[in-house]
Amino acid sequence: MKTENTVWHAQHVDKKQRADLKQQKPCLLWYTGLSGSGKSTIANAVDALLFERGCHSYLLDGDNVRHGLNGDLSFSDQDRIENIRRISEVAKLFLDAGLIVSTAFISPFSADRAMAKNMLEIGEFIEVYIDTPIDVCEQRDPKGLYKKARAGEIKDFTGIDSEYDVPESPTLHIKTAEYDIAQCAEQIVSYLQMHQYIK
Ligand code: PPS
Repeated sequence: MKTENTVWHAQHVDKKQRADLKQQKPCLLWYTGLSGSGKSTIANAVDALLFERGCHSYLLDGDNVRHGLNGDLSFSDQDRIENIRRISEVAKLFLDAGLIVSTAFISPFSADRAMAKNMLEIGEFIEVYIDTPIDVCEQRDPKGLYKKARAGEIKDFTGIDSEYDVPESPTLHIKTAEYDIAQCAEQIVSYLQMHQYIK
């Protein structure tokens, strides 16, 4: 626990200096959407495009982070809040390292997404809503989780018996039912370029 004896230590090399090495402006692409909406797939495609362009980026993905750092957390509301709090802190560190960071988590609660945004500097947080209707997610059901949730074998499943707050004004609204993965990824990279996060 942080106490009054825990003192912040300033560092010599700052975020801008690290980012300038790569000629990029650090930002956080915060992907949010239902399970099976395509968050990880699109975030991976964007990350690959950024890599090809010589950008220094890093992707934090829900399933992977829950294998390690957040392996102790369940899908209760309280644990989802803690999941997003830890991810936000980690993402902030990666931003401080000068990177273009992506996080792909359901992040169902708008209050937690707002908390992540408020931890950063203005312009650093880019909310990317991966908008896939639940019936499409359920049809895809890549991990068979919707089937299990419908059968009552998984409880607190997002969109079934756990809430998802639809983003009210996301920076980017990606409609996966209308565009393929490459087109979705291109929309995101174009935004980064247009707003000079990348060259
Ligand atoms: S959250 O809500 O942001 O804390 O969730 P996240 O860390 O992104 O983890 C979502 C992935 O966990 C799997 N999974 C579940 N999702 C939703 N509800 C329940 N109960 C659940 N149990 C397991 C599921 O594979 C999610 O992966 P994605 O990539 O979103 O499909």
